[in-house]
Amino acid sequence: MIQVYPDLESLSRAAAARLVRQAEQAVAARGRFGVALSGGRTPRRTYELLGQAPWKDQGPWDRTFIFWGDERCVPLNDVRSNARLARELWLDRVPIPRSQVHPMECGAAPAAAAVRYEALLREFFGGGPPRLDLVLLGLGEDGHTASLFPGTPVLQEQQRWVAQVYVAEQEFHRVTLTAPILNQAATVVFLVAGKSKARVLREVLHGAYDPGRLPAQLIRPEAGELHWLVDAAAAAELK
Ligand code: 6PG
Repeated sequence: MIQVYPDLESLSRAAAARLVRQAEQAVAARGRFGVALSGGRTPRRTYELLGQAPWKDQGPWDRTFIFWGDERCVPLNDVRSNARLARELWLDRVPIPRSQVHPMECGAAPAAAAVRYEALLREFFGGGPPRLDLVLLGLGEDGHTASLFPGTPVLQEQQRWVAQVYVAEQEFHRVTLTAPILNQAATVVFLVAGKSKARVLREVLHGAYDPGRLPAQLIRPEAGELHWLVDAAAAAELK
């Protein structure tokens, strides 16, 4: 389902409200809420809103478990760290127990970090279905999502839930959740804003299926919902 908002502010308000609503529903149904966050600039305002009234006082934060969809292998206090962004703007401002916040700490050994993060997820699911309640994702101008970049081997992954990726242009390693685990989620929500995303959004949604070039097309929840929250600028080329 595609929902178009006039601008990033209204999109962010809708995303924050949705996250809190889904958290409440998940806690009511299963006693906890497991969410994987995205990095990048687009969710910045959403996280900021979640760290402010009224949302910061509404979420069932003591029952919320935070994971990340991907991380850049930089120190956790680096400005490029996805975990740092969400922590500063939101997570440090609400009463989520630290033990329930799980950044991908990849340091100098991304392969080992991927193995560790998968083990952490397996422990969280405890042998039950590996179903995150909510996964937030972004869309790159080249069609990537999380750290699933065009033409990279991780796009073929069928087994592992977490993998390391090296993207030469960016000169650092990344750790990412893979399509097999992302597609088990109960709900996946893409946040896409800005006119620089208009062409790729059209291609991902209306173009031929070509996930090697447009990895975001790999995201098709098997038994869950897929929502695209987009602003008018990004939606400009949609039919
Ligand atoms: C990251 C991401 C990545 C991001 C897209 C969109 O760590 O970079 O998680 O997949 O969501 O690149 O980024 P923007 O929101 O900055 O356009």
